[in-house]
Parts: sequence; C-alpha cells; structure tokens
Amino acid sequence: MVRKFDFLVIGSGIAGMSFALKVADKGKVAILCKTKLEEANTNLAQGGIASVTKLTDKFENHVNDTLIAGDGACDEAVVRMVIENAPSQIQELVHWGVDFDKDEKGNFDLHKEGGHSDFRILHHKDSTGAEIQHSLVKRIQEHPNIEVFENYFAIDIITQHHLGQLVKHTTPNIECYGVYVLNPKTRRVHTFLSKVTMMATGGIGQIYQTTTNPSIATGDGISMVYRAKGIVKDMEFVQFHPTSLYNPSERPSFLITEAMRGYGAVLRNRKGEEFMYKYDKRGSLAPRDIVARSIDTEMKLAGCDYVYLDVTHKPAEETKEHFPMIYDKCLSLGIDITKDYIPVVPAAHYLCGGIKVDMNARTTINHLYAAGECSCTGLHGANRLASNSLLEAIVYADKAAKDSLKIIDSIKINDDVPLWNDAGTSLNEEMVLITQSEKEVGQIMSNYVGIVRSNLRLKRAFDRLEILYKETEDLFDRSVVTKEICELRNIINAGYLVIKMAMERKESRGLHYTIDYPTKIEC
Ligand code: FAD
Ligand code: SIN
Repeated sequence: MVRKFDFLVIGSGIAGMSFALKVADKGKVAILCKTKLEEANTNLAQGGIASVTKLTDKFENHVNDTLIAGDGACDEAVVRMVIENAPSQIQELVHWGVDFDKDEKGNFDLHKEGGHSDFRILHHKDSTGAEIQHSLVKRIQEHPNIEVFENYFAIDIITQHHLGQLVKHTTPNIECYGVYVLNPKTRRVHTFLSKVTMMATGGIGQIYQTTTNPSIATGDGISMVYRAKGIVKDMEFVQFHPTSLYNPSERPSFLITEAMRGYGAVLRNRKGEEFMYKYDKRGSLAPRDIVARSIDTEMKLAGCDYVYLDVTHKPAEETKEHFPMIYDKCLSLGIDITKDYIPVVPAAHYLCGGIKVDMNARTTINHLYAAGECSCTGLHGANRLASNSLLEAIVYADKAAKDSLKIIDSIKINDDVPLWNDAGTSLNEEMVLITQSEKEVGQIMSNYVGIVRSNLRLKRAFDRLEILYKETEDLFDRSVVTKEICELRNIINAGYLVIKMAMERKESRGLHYTIDYPTKIEC
C-alpha cells in the first residue's frame, strides 16, 4: 500500500511530536512510532529541562557550563543558539499544557544538576518526561491534520538507490522520498511517501546490557541514515548516567535522577566513605563523565557491583515531596531512601553523537531533517550537560519546522518509487538466532566499549561484531522482514559505528576514555 503525506515524522518523543504540532496547520502529517505513542525515552525523563529563567542567572553561565562539560568539542555557535532559544521554547511547552513546578511566589521551582553553576532545571516533581509526553500526546490526538500510526516500524529511507541508481557516501544531492514501513501485525511493508521527513527516533541505549533506555532505543534512525549514505558523527561519545538503581533483574534500569545530588545527596563507597572529592573538587556534582568514571574506579578497587547514594541527611518529608516516584520505587524494593543508602551503578543513558545536522536540523540528505537524541547538532560535544537534551530536541524541532515550512511548497512527492521487494525471502521461525545475537551485542558493548576503553578491547569488539554483522545480513537477505531482525541489524550497525569512531579517536576526551591515550590532544 502507498500512502502520501506532506510531513512524515518518525518518532513520538519530544522531538517528533513538537515538530508535528508546529507544521500540522500547513499540511497532512503522519507520525509513526514502533510501539505506543507514549513509549519513548522522553516519557522516562526525570530531572527536567535546563533553561535560564531567573534574573540572577545568565545565558553566558549556561553557555560556559555546556562548553566545559563538552570538553572542547562543542560548536559554540550552536550552544549559544540553543541556550538563547530555551526560554521561548519553554513557553511553547507551557502553552501546550506542560505543568512545571512553581514555588509559593509563582516562579519556576528550579533544580540543580551536575556541571550546572546555578539552579536552572525546570521540572515536574521527578517525572518531568511523563508530564511532557502526556501533554504533547493530548495535543497530537486533538489535531485534525495529524494521523498517528502506532506499532508501525520504519525500515529504511527511500532514496535514488531504490530507483536503481548507485548511491555512495560521496554522492551529492541524495534525496529522501519517504520511508518503507512494516506493519508487524499484517507483516505487510507499506510505502510512505512524503515531501519532508523528520527523523526523531531517539537513542541507542539498548546496544548495552545495562541501560536506562526503554526497548525502543535501538538506533534505528541513525542506522537508516547511515545505510542511506547520510553522515553520522561523534558516535564514540556514549554517556553513562552515574546513578541507575542497582537491581540486576530489571531492564531498563531505573534512574535515580541527578537532581537528587543537586538537592544534596552524596555518593559513598561500600565502606560508607564519601569518595568523589578524591576525583574532582565539585564532588558528587561534577559532570557525568567524571562521576561515572570515578564510580567505575571505586567499584573496581573494591571488587563490587555498586556504590551508594546517600540522601538520608535531608529532611524526610522534603525528600518525599521532591522525589515521590523514586521514593515509591525504592520502597517497593524494601529501600526507604529517607533512612537507607540507595545502591547505584552507572548505566548507558544517552548518545551525544548521531545524524549530522546543520543549525536548521537539515541532515546531509535532502528533505530529511533530524532532531532529538538521534541527531548530532554540536551542542553536547564530548559530553552532554544534564537536562540539555530535552532542550536541544525542542529547539531543533522548532528550527526544522520553520525551515521546512519555507520549502514545503516547492517539493513534489516522487511517484516513481517502487514497492518493497521481498522476492526470494521466506519466514524465519528461529527467533533464537535473533535473541542470542542481541545478547551477544550487549555483552560485547558493555565489556569492551564501556566507560573505560583500550585499543585491545575495541579491536576485540570490532572483530566479534563483524561476525554477528555477516550472520545477520545473511539472515536478513533470506528472511521475510520482521521488526526483530530489523532491530538486530540496527543495534549491530549502531554498535559498529560506536566502535569504529572510538578506534579513530586517538585521545581521551569527555565520554571517550581510553587507557592507551589517557590525555587530550590539544587543539
Ligand atoms: P524518544 O523520546 O526516545 O522517542 C523516540 C521515538 O522514536 C519513539 O516514539 C519510538 O517509537 C520511535 N521510533 C524509534 N525507532 C523507530 C522505528 N524504526 N520506526 C518507528 N518509530 C520508531 N534528558 C533531559 O534533558 N532531562 C532529563 O531529565 C532526562 N532524563 C532522562 C531519564 C531517562 C530514564 C532517560 C532514558 C533519558 C533521559 N533524558 C533526559 C534524555 C531524554 O529523555 C532523551 O534524550 C529525549 O527524550 C529523546 O527524545 P527524542 O524525541 O529524541 O526520542
Ligand atoms: C536525570 O534526571 O538525572 C537525567 C537528566 C538527564 O539525562 O539530562
């Protein structure tokens, strides 16, 4: 079946939904999501969204904090643009119904997180993401021009390649005509044609064994763009959140927000000693790369699987008031955070790299935009500052909306696109071939491409992944297409890009730390 839209949006997180709402008055919009509208990283965000909103704070301070966290790899013009656009985009969220907490004077109640020099995190208790997700979903469902396709899986971007032309990474003017999309229920592949396509597919956390990301985070958008010969960059900068709740049977790992350290919680080793000042003068509130590495060192020194986060010295009622979701979650596991230390461990959390975009969110493929975690704008550099990612997503969705509204009338749908070709394939009944390979990818990435890396570990990871790649491509070519085989292909592809770019970086910078090149190359 062929469907035609003015705007095709892949992803129902903050990036995809806010873009859709901003263009929907102009034309027909489709939003695809591979599970439910609500299931997205956005929905799980806890700490909040960073913005300068009080008189005593300054854009310059937020810019400096972002540049320091990014460890010399940020694009300063992008940093300024995003931070200066933050207040107006926060107002848009409020206009869509997002309820940020306020103090008794009616000002935003602001939290502080690692690497921030001031209190500037707007939040809704400790479940900011769910508040944003629900508000946007409601608006999306009310808009008559937006059609939602839940449980539809985008397989590949359609370009000149599908019209029989040879397309390489060096080919100029690659065009995006739309996307091939699988309806897993009917096993049919549909052709979605569009004038403009927005890639907003989120992150890659699922390539690691331990992650805070939900099951949708398999790097699909990044892999689609890479296969279509678009440019992907900075994939070596994978952020591990220092404090996920240690509960080995749970996937994804439950997050203990950094805002809790901003509130006064401190990290302690298994002997109960506060250890962070050994590593950084900012203590438990140092940027994430430093805190995660320090925890990793402490765990290796003591030979244990977790450290503690201690908030017991803070007033119990205040703690419950600020962090109700975390309080309830820990209590359900027998941990009363007002009296007990919380066992925590770093977990893969966020990808700083991704699909290269310019300041208007244009990718290197014509008529294809990208926003949110799947994109690489230059804001985060080598390490993202806490709560800058929801901000980046909403600012770039806005940029993409404004830019695409200018060009939409000049673009024609391409009616020559062929239907999906599945000749010569048969149904693969052996799910174990897929699930086992997925587990292997997680083990390879966690053991060899984690917080601390080395040449030897990266080479080993590369060689192991190459075997899985060949086996999976062979299986993909022979099998009727399924969501599971596509996701496996995508996590292998995303893992490959992380390893390849990590091998190319002959220094330690931000989130990429290797024992073979422990220092930074000075520019
Ligand atoms: P997502 O919200 O991840 O949405 C991705 C969408 O793409 C989903 O709808 C999915 O179904 C769809 N999709 C993916 N692949 C396909 C496909 N093949 N076909 C169809 N649809 C597809 N950031 C902050 O700034 N502040 C925070 O407090 C914060 N807390 C966080 C807490 C947790 C636990 C996590 C995991 C992340 C947190 N982050 C936070 C990071 C932030 O939430 C994410 O970076 C951001 O929400 C990503 O939004 P997005 O719109 O890019 O993608
Ligand atoms: C958190 O609440 O600690 C997560 C914030 C973020 O990832 O920016």
